[in-house]
Amino acid sequence: WEAQILDSIDSTNAEVLRCLAAGAPAPFLVLAERQDNGRGRRGRQWVSPFAENLYYSLGLRLEGGVFSLDGLSLSVGLAVLRCLRELGVVEAGLKWPNDLLVAGRKIAGVLLELSGDPAGECQVVIGIGVNVNMLPGSRVVIDQPWTSLRECIGHLVDRTALTLALGRWLEHYLSLHAQGGFAALREEWEACHLWQGKEVSLLAGPQRIDGVVLGVDSLGALRLDVAGQERQ
Ligand code: BTN
Repeated sequence: WEAQILDSIDSTNAEVLRCLAAGAPAPFLVLAERQDNGRGRRGRQWVSPFAENLYYSLGLRLEGGVFSLDGLSLSVGLAVLRCLRELGVVEAGLKWPNDLLVAGRKIAGVLLELSGDPAGECQVVIGIGVNVNMLPGSRVVIDQPWTSLRECIGHLVDRTALTLALGRWLEHYLSLHAQGGFAALREEWEACHLWQGKEVSLLAGPQRIDGVVLGVDSLGALRLDVAGQERQ
């Protein structure tokens, strides 16, 4: 993929969306050394200090219907997971929908953003943040428990090698997803799911739902057993 490496940007996802809106040919990749307004899921901030981590956004143009967006972020999570495990973080796992955790601490996250018409022509940004060389105890303040590749494997990690490895895993899983949708990856995803068979308590708007995780369906929705009844 064509790649642009920026010193500093508000958010690599925002930059890709701007380039796509301006007609840039896709696929293309934007990486940055630092983000001033890194975006996380559910409106959260993604803490993005200079030269420590990977801030990676891949821009795609999709024909609606040809490539299913259902479960795409879970397929991407699986690609990131395989990459982390290949680099030695063998205990890393997934938490629905697309958190990557090691012993309950966040090591990476995925944020997909769309523009255009999901049923027609649309643009997608696959944003991936990986905590690479940051160490707990440094000045970085993050409002949830976290770890990094360096902390897990005990040495500094070459971010160029990580970027190339991630690109290979993404290509692999995006092509499987293009052929068979998330359905083709569902079983493999569940095998890496840290919540599988566990009791969870989820907030659905104002409502709290307590249930046992059965897995995910072929669109990537969570399947729960709530008092003996399956719910999604
Ligand atoms: C999450 O909340 O788990 C998702 C975090 C995604 C962060 C990445 S870093 C690169 C890309 N640019 C952003 O602004 N966010 C994503």
